[in-house]
Amino acid sequence: MNILVIGGNGFIGSHLIDHLLLKGHNVRVFDVSYERYRKPLPNVDYRISALENIPDLYEALLGIDIIFHLASASVPSTSNVDTVSDINKNLIPTLNILNLSVKLGIKRIIYFSSGGAVYGNPLTKLISENHPLNPISSYGIVKVTIEMYLSLYQRMYGLNPLILRPSNPYGPRQGHFIAQGVISTFLRKVQKNEELTVYGDGNSAKDYIYIKDMIDLSYQLSISDEVGIFNLGSGIGTSINQIIDQIKKTTKSKLNINFVEKQIYDVDHFVLDISKTTNLLGNYPITTLKEGIENTRYWLNSIV
Ligand SMILES: NC(=O)c1ccc[n+]([C@@H]2O[C@H](COP(=O)([O-])OP(=O)(O)OC[C@H]3O[C@@H](n4cnc5c(N)ncnc54)[C@H](O)[C@@H]3O)[C@@H](O)[C@H]2O)c1
Repeated sequence: MNILVIGGNGFIGSHLIDHLLLKGHNVRVFDVSYERYRKPLPNVDYRISALENIPDLYEALLGIDIIFHLASASVPSTSNVDTVSDINKNLIPTLNILNLSVKLGIKRIIYFSSGGAVYGNPLTKLISENHPLNPISSYGIVKVTIEMYLSLYQRMYGLNPLILRPSNPYGPRQGHFIAQGVISTFLRKVQKNEELTVYGDGNSAKDYIYIKDMIDLSYQLSISDEVGIFNLGSGIGTSINQIIDQIKKTTKSKLNINFVEKQIYDVDHFVLDISKTTNLLGNYPITTLKEGIENTRYWLNSIV
């Protein structure tokens, strides 16, 4: 298959292209910059340009069977600062991708939405795909809007969109450009002997998934005939204190932790219901926190 990965030089995209190459696909990447931590790969057709450049985007879409769209110019915490820019940089370029896909007859598009921001504050212990959508950031609102446009284009033009809602992926190469998750942040701080800041008492639990597990699931779903929305997570709640304990064991370091007051937008428990995905693919093996943290640390040590 000829596959275009838009935003393929970011954290998730860099692992996705490895997997696609391994499966024997022809991989083209459209991204505004190259990967931060690796040299360009020999078998990838890189198109370095911004999505706002429509002629370049059009060229990149020629001959493509499947599009993975991972480009995002914002993260939840920054998106509210300039909501107009958030729409201009994320929503409008995505509509251009969809319109060009219709024009070129590309039917399959895999969109990376969010398994947190679209739901807002959780109303149930496990969050299924049917949980109400109450985003509390512009980032989440734009993700929901893009999801709705994907359904609209499915109805109007017969696109086959797959919407993936990832929880909190972590692993090597996280922190490519803008945001990095708590596990990578803490490991980097321990490496530099810096203090770890914990908001609240550290008991709040979230759903973390090791990047390679998430990529494997995304790939299996992408090659199925499924359309619609799938949560992508471990389905397991892991607290900040559990992460800290594991980091302590892995690094054998004495950690300097500063507990501060929790922030108003922090939620105590946020775990995805992954049964829709497991019903389709069966129970999938999940990399343990121990192994995931060890691999991430190994990689971090290799880049200093
Ligand atoms: N990492 C997470 O924790 C997480 C969780 C849930 C959902 N997601 C979503 O998954 C997707 C990928 O996330 P990531 O962590 O790999 O992000 P990332 O920031 O590491 O990668 C995004 C890539 O998109 C590129 N990009 C951004 N704007 C562009 C533009 N206008 N034109 C061309 N390229 C552009 C960037 O250069 C970057 O390489 C995003 O849509 C993100 O919202 C990520």
